[in-house]
Amino acid sequence: MPKRQSLIVVANRLPIRRVGSGASARWERSPGGLVSAMEPVLERFGGTWVGWSGMTGRVPRPFSADNVRMVPVPISRPEEEHFYNGMSNRTFWPLYHDAVRTPEFNREWWGAYVEVNKRFARAAARAARRRDVVWIHDYQLQLVPMMLRELKPDLRIGFFMHVPFPPEELFAWLPWRSDILRGLLGADLVGFQTQAAMQNFSRLARRYTTATGTDSALEFEGRTVRSGSFPISIDFDAFDEMARDPEVVRDSESIRQRLGPQRKVVLSVDRLDYTKGIEHRLAAYADLLNRRQIAAEKCVLVQIAVPTRDPLPDYTRIRASVEHAVGRINGEHASPGRVAVHYFRRTLSRRDLVAWYLAADVMLVTPLRDGMNLVAKEYVACRTDHSGVLVLSEFAGAARELRRAVLVNPRDLDGMVAAINVALKMDPDEAAQSMSLLRSMVRRHDVRFWAESFLGALTE
Ligand code: ADP
Ligand code: F6P
Repeated sequence: MPKRQSLIVVANRLPIRRVGSGASARWERSPGGLVSAMEPVLERFGGTWVGWSGMTGRVPRPFSADNVRMVPVPISRPEEEHFYNGMSNRTFWPLYHDAVRTPEFNREWWGAYVEVNKRFARAAARAARRRDVVWIHDYQLQLVPMMLRELKPDLRIGFFMHVPFPPEELFAWLPWRSDILRGLLGADLVGFQTQAAMQNFSRLARRYTTATGTDSALEFEGRTVRSGSFPISIDFDAFDEMARDPEVVRDSESIRQRLGPQRKVVLSVDRLDYTKGIEHRLAAYADLLNRRQIAAEKCVLVQIAVPTRDPLPDYTRIRASVEHAVGRINGEHASPGRVAVHYFRRTLSRRDLVAWYLAADVMLVTPLRDGMNLVAKEYVACRTDHSGVLVLSEFAGAARELRRAVLVNPRDLDGMVAAINVALKMDPDEAAQSMSLLRSMVRRHDVRFWAESFLGALTE
């Protein structure tokens, strides 16, 4: 990016969020892959981050943290309900993830979505100087590119979609489909995780707006809008370095001791979201135990789940169902002092997470649908001795790149059982060969590569 331009990131959440109230109020890291990826990028380039603090009511004034100027955008309590819980999480989230839950369409939510998008556009316009580069993120802010262009046509505007972008069969359900496409077409460059998502977008734009052109370059209202696939990634070096830290290595050894030093450790780490396939995974693990293909004395599953979108009914249900399944497996297979499945519902520090990645012989990343899935890449980056096996869903964007993982269809119970078996029994030399290839893939295509490719294409 040319030196004189500065970077303005616009995302629903700031990288830190305000939690608790009164004397116990504090800032903590925001959840999710978007923040994990953008945090190192902005800390490096410097710039401004426009986003929501996670609290309704009074907003903090702009402030600086870690080389980044934070500009909080206010969201009221009714807007949290309609814009965030409603339109973002009950309409777009399920619709864009293969309608794995039925999306709901509600015109009051849509009204709030338009209003909040306008507010983000105005905040970005205020933060930007002439010819600055503005990078807008994700499904919560799809109208912002065009709204911002109308306010400040001189800006370079990029948009990146972190989640999948659905095919016409699903997208066409959306009553506001043309508005959304027009909103996105306000950008100079629209980026997606995969080629398939990018093609879905371009085809839909030609079908439901006046745009013409090819998959990678559309003509719309006298401008050229480019689109491309830019698979997001992680700060490989930071994970690799942390995984070599003697204290972290000691912590991982202590985890293994406490789990039972002779046992194989199988790990999963996800937000507690219905797209992540946690129930399907537990069913496959239970099947292995029930059929005595594995024994709880020799193997343990650890499921770490970050609380997310708590008040929404689908999330309350998935939590209850996961907790029920864990209880049931342990009821049948645990023995005194030795559970078959450990379940931790909490947010961990980066160091603790790395210690867990280091402790795991097998990593199960089996979402039903995922834009990318950074956990898979983080595990690979932490396996500094090239041991460990990654089992990865075909329906995660990461499967396009991490082809040497054990790929699996999470809805195929027998396929899941077979994949876990393969991973547990893999010959160490074969595992090391695969891990080494996976590591060089993630090392080369790290988050810096991702950000530079996107920003390079946006500003060229
Ligand atoms: P999503 O964006 O849908 O949450 P990703 O796998 O792309 O999924 O990103 C999840 C991010 O959240 C990763 O960077 C991961 O390290 C982090 N994360 C997942 N589980 C935890 C946890 N229990 N504690 C802290 N961070 C977590
Ligand atoms: O794309 C990943 C993502 O959906 C982000 O957009 C989102 O911020 C994050 O996961 C976590 O979800 P939420 O912001 O709803 O807590």
